[in-house]
Amino acid sequence: MVETSKTATLVIDDKRIELPVQQGTCGPDVVDIGKLYAKGDIFTYDPGFTSTASCESSITFIDGEEGILLHRGYPIGQLASKSHYLEVCYLLLYGELPTTAELEDFENRVTAHTMLHEQMTYFFRGFRRDAHPMAIMVGVVGAMSAFYHDSTDISDQWQREVASIRLIAKMPTIAAWAYKYSIGQPMVYPRNDLDYASNFLRMCFSVPAEDYVVDPVLARAMDRIFTLHADHEQNASTSTVRLASSSGANPFACIAAGIACLWGPAHGGANQACLEMLREIGTVDRIPEYIARAKDKEDPFRLMGFGHRVYKNFDPRAKVMKESADEVLELLGVEDNETLKIAKQLEKIALEDDYFAEKKLYPNVDFYSGVILDAMGFPTSMFTPIFSLSRTVGWIAQWKEMLNDPVQKIGRPRQLYTGAESRDYVDIETR
Ligand code: CMC
Repeated sequence: MVETSKTATLVIDDKRIELPVQQGTCGPDVVDIGKLYAKGDIFTYDPGFTSTASCESSITFIDGEEGILLHRGYPIGQLASKSHYLEVCYLLLYGELPTTAELEDFENRVTAHTMLHEQMTYFFRGFRRDAHPMAIMVGVVGAMSAFYHDSTDISDQWQREVASIRLIAKMPTIAAWAYKYSIGQPMVYPRNDLDYASNFLRMCFSVPAEDYVVDPVLARAMDRIFTLHADHEQNASTSTVRLASSSGANPFACIAAGIACLWGPAHGGANQACLEMLREIGTVDRIPEYIARAKDKEDPFRLMGFGHRVYKNFDPRAKVMKESADEVLELLGVEDNETLKIAKQLEKIALEDDYFAEKKLYPNVDFYSGVILDAMGFPTSMFTPIFSLSRTVGWIAQWKEMLNDPVQKIGRPRQLYTGAESRDYVDIETR
């Protein structure tokens, strides 16, 4: 960050507190309130962190008003059309696009780690068959710290690197096995001659009796879904990973915490909730009823896949996802897919409605991703695990950045206390 000559002055009664203003490369300046409590005996209050920058970061930039998303400066649209997931992983982790040799080396390193410790299969078997794959992922990823002791020391750069590669490499295997376990099919081992997306599709859809031949168009669409979800600045799950690791916890435990946070329907769980909503709507003529419910203050229903804390214009990921949905459904010969029809019509009606226009609510990344994943053959319960495996690289890149940040310290927010004042304990007989 750049220190500016600007300061902000906070006046409380007759006391004036001068606060430094810092500047980044893009986006709004920040008022540095780090010394505010020491200088003024006062806290700031910002539930949901709507006006608070929690850290300095050079990984991802979002301009929510303009609908811009950049990874290390590169627009997401260009990365989605010209690059591929593992190259984007390299970019997020190391800051620059790789040379051919660097990419080959990185891909080899990831590919060499796709298998899970064989004993981990017992972990899967310990879950109920009807467990949600996200529940399995939280458990199994957390359990990695019990299997990979040689990559849990965060003070060792080499161990951090090995843990990062292991997580990116093993996450597709974990997600695919969670799925296989839930449907009672044998787990399929990874194949290192396949690219990252094809390997994942095969581990999900192949059975011992019949191999699954991966269609390159579907593999490309899968890869694009991974790319579009790779990182998204200081969202809830990323902030969870940063907060968990600020105490010095090991990387597997921290990523498990991120997966747990992502699961919620306001965050990554929205893709499952969105497709379930589209199915519940069922026919185009029922759309107005659901729009009315979304606008009704008395009804807790929200249009899933709509709205975003940061984007107050189109989510640029949603644009690419919509194009991808058309491509995939055409390939699969299901252009007249009813769910896609409802999604498109719902989007059109919502965007013409004053309520959504005034509140700047637009489709987000989750609005069309479910339609694609559904057409590919994934059950809705797999949508959020796929988001988790894609976001793993973002969590790791942010985790590594945090550990290298000299101002990093344990995350410890304060509060506005509104409970009882100090009072004396009352014996139970006299209460
Ligand atoms: N449908 C109807 N009304 C909505 C919606 C929606 N999807 N989203 C926000 N609003 C209204 C909300 O009722 C509120 O109205 P009012 O000001 O009258 O009280 C206003 O818009 C602002 O909403 P908010 O909840 O204060 O905004 P937020 O920034 O805290 O929430 C959000 C952002 C994404 C949680 C929210 O838009 C939402 O719940 N959307 C549906 C879930 C969803 O699609 N989530 C995926 C987000 S993108 C993937 C990811 O990164 O995780």
